[in-house]
Amino acid sequence: MASLKGKDILHGNQFSKKDIDGILKVAAGFEKELKAKGALNLLKGKILATLFFEPSTRTRLSFETAMQRLGGGVISMASAESSSAAKGETLADTAKTVAQYADAIVIRHPRLGSAKEAADAVPIPVLNAGDGAGQHPTQALLDIYTIYRERGSLKDLQISLVGDLKNGRTVHALVEILSLYGARMYFVSPGLLQMPEEITSGLRSKGIEIVETEDLAYAASQTDLLYLTRIQKERFSDLAEYERVKGSYVVDAKFLAALKKDIILLHPLPRVDEIHPEVDAYPGAAYFRQVRNGVFIRMAILAMIFGKR
Ligand code: CP
Repeated sequence: MASLKGKDILHGNQFSKKDIDGILKVAAGFEKELKAKGALNLLKGKILATLFFEPSTRTRLSFETAMQRLGGGVISMASAESSSAAKGETLADTAKTVAQYADAIVIRHPRLGSAKEAADAVPIPVLNAGDGAGQHPTQALLDIYTIYRERGSLKDLQISLVGDLKNGRTVHALVEILSLYGARMYFVSPGLLQMPEEITSGLRSKGIEIVETEDLAYAASQTDLLYLTRIQKERFSDLAEYERVKGSYVVDAKFLAALKKDIILLHPLPRVDEIHPEVDAYPGAAYFRQVRNGVFIRMAILAMIFGKR
């Protein structure tokens, strides 16, 4: 496994299969250790800064939980409005300032390429927690960990990725990692929200089999994992377009009853209407276990960038 010590985590394509296998192993170790001990002392004295210029529940709180479970400290900026960005400070200056206080930065920002911009400005590791409609690599890592935990293996993966594939940064990062395992992928979206061509052509050039369709029932019949995503209203410049595509795909009890009996349902959350709450009791509904797995994966990433694993 290549060392992640001192590295930025910016894009799903930066990892080798060996890296991912190593990260999953470290995360599994932390999952066991946490169960036995509750908390660890590995990062005592280290400080993580979480800078969120866009809303978040899971990513910010799971990074903060992970850091604190490892014995480290957290400083946080929960909104653009509450920081000097509201007074016109550049992202580079904010990052350079925060690097005077913290040992690593987690950043979410609406601008594509913003995490790289911050990383280029500072000598400490920067972790991309979502740059516009770009990438969300730590989400992809927790997704692949969840798939591994739910299936017990990453062999012969067949997965349907459903919803807003144009704007969904989680799927943009996840397909890079799935491609390392030779997954067969079904991309299910309305025509307006298809996976960007540069991503599909990149995957095809690696020999990955992709099927693009608008038919969720068909894709679900061909795959054993359904990864649903929210239509990202905040990325639409024309709200009339959003109105046309919202609610395109809904998994409710009736739809679920027609699917394969052991199909696994994933969602990065938050959901709007893609998965009806009546589905939550289905044993294969893994999305809240997915949330929990975010802590173990982010513990692994933090321990590794600080050279403690
Ligand atoms: N999955 C995810 O990124 O959730 P948040 O937007 O709540 O962080």
